Amino acid sequence: NTAALDIRPIGGRIGAEIQGVRLASDLPSAAVDAIKQALLKHKVIFFRDQSHLDEAEQEAFGRLFGDLVPHPTVPSLKGTDNVLDIDGSRGERASSWHTDVTFVADYPKISILRGVVVPEAGGDTLWANTVAAYNDLPEGLREFAETLWLLHSNVYDYVGNRHTVSEEGRRRYNEVFTSTRYETEHPLVHVHPETGERALILGHFAQKVIGYGTTDSAHLLAIFQEHIIRPENTVRWRWAAGDVAIWDNRATQHRAIDDYGDAPRVVRRVTIAGDAAVGVDG
Ligand code: SIN
Repeated sequence: NTAALDIRPIGGRIGAEIQGVRLASDLPSAAVDAIKQALLKHKVIFFRDQSHLDEAEQEAFGRLFGDLVPHPTVPSLKGTDNVLDIDGSRGERASSWHTDVTFVADYPKISILRGVVVPEAGGDTLWANTVAAYNDLPEGLREFAETLWLLHSNVYDYVGNRHTVSEEGRRRYNEVFTSTRYETEHPLVHVHPETGERALILGHFAQKVIGYGTTDSAHLLAIFQEHIIRPENTVRWRWAAGDVAIWDNRATQHRAIDDYGDAPRVVRRVTIAGDAAVGVDG
């Protein structure tokens, strides 16, 4: 018994906007079920005009999808238990491809991101469909991928290519994000626990392929990552304040676009607890 939603696909392979829904923790269960179905199908779903949500409401709405988990190393926004404040003016620009928090074994299954302050131009976010990427691989590469396991870690250069950040800034910034070292291994191909689809787990926390040397490992990661981020597999969202994006973290990667200079940009995220990834052999 699911409610009919006004769902408008955006990309051919990922992403849909849902209109006519006011997100809230007291949504009827039929509407919540319909949103969950839409999420599994489209991988990332968008809602405009949700400015009525504050942090407490975002957390309460998030609990409809499961238990909330705070970020492992970054303190939650003051006054909240679970809200990650992502503020571009502090250098938090998330501008490389990743799946959220894959450096822990039971990484989040769903993320819910709210646009709070958005630049007049720029600061869009991209998502990529990691199921479509797996399906696109030539058969031999699919079979090979299913044999691989990757090491994921948060000891990663979060500032990356941002030449505008000083060495001192880079050190300070990375200190917060890597204050506790996490490492875990995931199969490169996992079976989605709800849809049964196979998807690639990769992104910027993936450091190496287990059993391979540094050079081979880097080449292998690049081959699979290139398949994930082909433009055909992606959708791009132009934020307005009050927008909400919800993504299936088990079937996507995402990244923000760092093209807004000094303009303010603040987005706030809650994540829903997930389970350890299961490979194709169980
Ligand atoms: C994130 O990586 O969760 C944030 C993406 C964004 O800032 O658009």
